[in-house]
Amino acid sequence: MPEQPKPPAEAVVSPSRRRPVIAIDGPAGAGKSTLAAHLARRCGFLNLETGAMYRALALKAIEGDISFDEEAPLLALAEATRIDLQPQVEGNRVLLDGFDVSRRIRDADVTSAASRISVHPQLRAWMVQQQRALGVEGGVVMEGRDIGTAVFPDAEVKIFLDAAPEVRGNRRFRQVASGDARSAPAKPAETRDSDTQKAVLEEMRERDRRDRNRAESPLRPASDAVILDSTAMELAEVLARAEEIVLAHLPSA
Ligand code: DC
Repeated sequence: MPEQPKPPAEAVVSPSRRRPVIAIDGPAGAGKSTLAAHLARRCGFLNLETGAMYRALALKAIEGDISFDEEAPLLALAEATRIDLQPQVEGNRVLLDGFDVSRRIRDADVTSAASRISVHPQLRAWMVQQQRALGVEGGVVMEGRDIGTAVFPDAEVKIFLDAAPEVRGNRRFRQVASGDARSAPAKPAETRDSDTQKAVLEEMRERDRRDRNRAESPLRPASDAVILDSTAMELAEVLARAEEIVLAHLPSA
C-alpha cells in the first residue's frame, strides 16, 4: 500500500492545544463585565469585552452619518476600521483607528446605535472573525452575547449570566445615580429619579428585544453553557459560584 502523505505541520496542531477560553454571555446589565474582569484576574487571562467593538463601530457610524439600518455601508465601514481592545485592570481600553474612545462609547447615543447595528448578519460575521483572531491563542475571558454559541463554540468554559430585567434595570440605575454610568440614558439635571429609573428599564428591555429576536446569533445560552441566574444573589456569591464553575472545567486554573 502506498504510504499516506503526511499532513502539513499546522494541521496536526489541534485547536484544543490553544490555552483555554472562558466565554461569558448574557443580556445587558447582568454583570458580565465585573464577572469577566474578576475571572481574568483569578486565572491570569486577558479580559476581552466584545460589546466594546460593536460600540466602537457604532461610534464611527454616528460620526460618519451612516445609517444604522443599512448593512452594506456599515460593512464597508467595518472593513476600513481598526478596533483594538487593550485589557486593563479597570476594563478594556478601546482604540478606534488608533484613538482612545473608551469613555465616549459608553454614552447613550452609542449604546442605542450599537444595539441597532448588531442585528446585521454580515457585520456580525466580520466581528466574529475579528474576535476569533483576538482569542486565537486562548488564555482569554471573552464577554458578549454570542461567544459560547458563535465566536468560540468550543470554549472550555461557558457561563450564561442572567438576571430578571427589573433587577438588571435597578442595578444599572444605581450606577447612573452614583455617576458611574455605563450604557445608560443620560440623566438631565431636572429629571426625577423615578423617571430615570423607568427610562433605564425601558432602554434595557428594548436592547433585550433586539438581542433575543435578531435572525443571526440571537442571544441564547449555548447548549453546554452553565446558566448562572444572579437575580437573588449578591455579587460575592456570583463571583464565588463562577469560580466553582471554572474550577470544575479547568481543574488547573
Ligand atoms: O455588552 P454591551 O452592552 O456593551 O454591548 C453593546 C451592544 O453590542 C449590545 O446592544 C449588543 C451588541 N453585542 C452583540 O450583539 N454581540 C456581542 N458579542 C457583544 C455585544
